[in-house]
Amino acid sequence: MEENRYLTFALGKGRLAKKTLELFENIGITCEEMKDPATRKLIFVNEKERLRFFLAKGPDVPTYVEYGAADVGVVGEDTILEENRGIHEVLDLGFGRCRMCVCGPKEAAGLLQRRELIRVASKYPRIARDYFYNTKHQTVEIIKLNGSIELAPIVGLSEVIVDIVETGSTLRENGLDILEEVCPLSARMVVNPVSMKMRHERITGLLGALRGALET
Ligand code: PRP
Repeated sequence: MEENRYLTFALGKGRLAKKTLELFENIGITCEEMKDPATRKLIFVNEKERLRFFLAKGPDVPTYVEYGAADVGVVGEDTILEENRGIHEVLDLGFGRCRMCVCGPKEAAGLLQRRELIRVASKYPRIARDYFYNTKHQTVEIIKLNGSIELAPIVGLSEVIVDIVETGSTLRENGLDILEEVCPLSARMVVNPVSMKMRHERITGLLGALRGALET
C-alpha cells in the first residue's frame, strides 16, 4: 500500500542536511542515527514515519531526484540552476542564504562595463554563461574550476569569477570585491515530478507542515 512505502529524501551533505533535520524535528520527525557525528553511514531510516534520508554531494542531489532514486531533495538553489534537471522546486527553506556574484579586483569593473572579451572562472559554468550571454550580452570565455575560485584572478587565470558570496570574508581576505550581483540564493526543497503525482497527498501534507514550521 502507498502509505507503507518509504518516502526517500536526498540531502546535500553538511550544513544543509543539519539544518534540514532541525526543521524536521520542529514538525516532530526525528532521525537520531543521523546525529551521530562519528557515523559513516549514508542512509538513515525513520521506520515509524516510513521515511528514508540519504546524504549525497550537493550537485548529485538533483540527479537522484530527477531519476526518482529520491522522491524529495534539499539542495542550494545554485546547484539547482547549475544542474538544470527535470525536477519541481516546491519550497524555499530560507536557510543557506547567500548571493551569486561576479567578483574580482576593483580594476576589473571597467572590463565589465566595456563588455570586453574576458575570462570568467567559476564552479558554475552554466550560471556564468547564462548571466554573461543572456543577461549582459557580453561574450566571455568561461573556465570551469572545482573550488577555491578566488585564486583565479589573483594568479592571473581569469579577470573575474562567478561565485557564491555568503559573509564576504573570503573576498575581503584575498583583496577582491563584488562587482555585480547575479542573483540571491537559498536552500530549496525539490520533488521528482512522478512522485509529486503518485504520492501527492503524502508530499503535500509534509510540505504544508514544513511551511507552517518555517512561518513560526
Ligand atoms: C564558498 C564560495 C566562496 C566562499 C564564500 O566556498 O565558493 O569561496 O564559500 O563564503 P564567504 O563569503 O562566507 O567567505 P566553499 O567554502 O564552499 O569552498 P570551495 O572554495 O571549495 O568552493
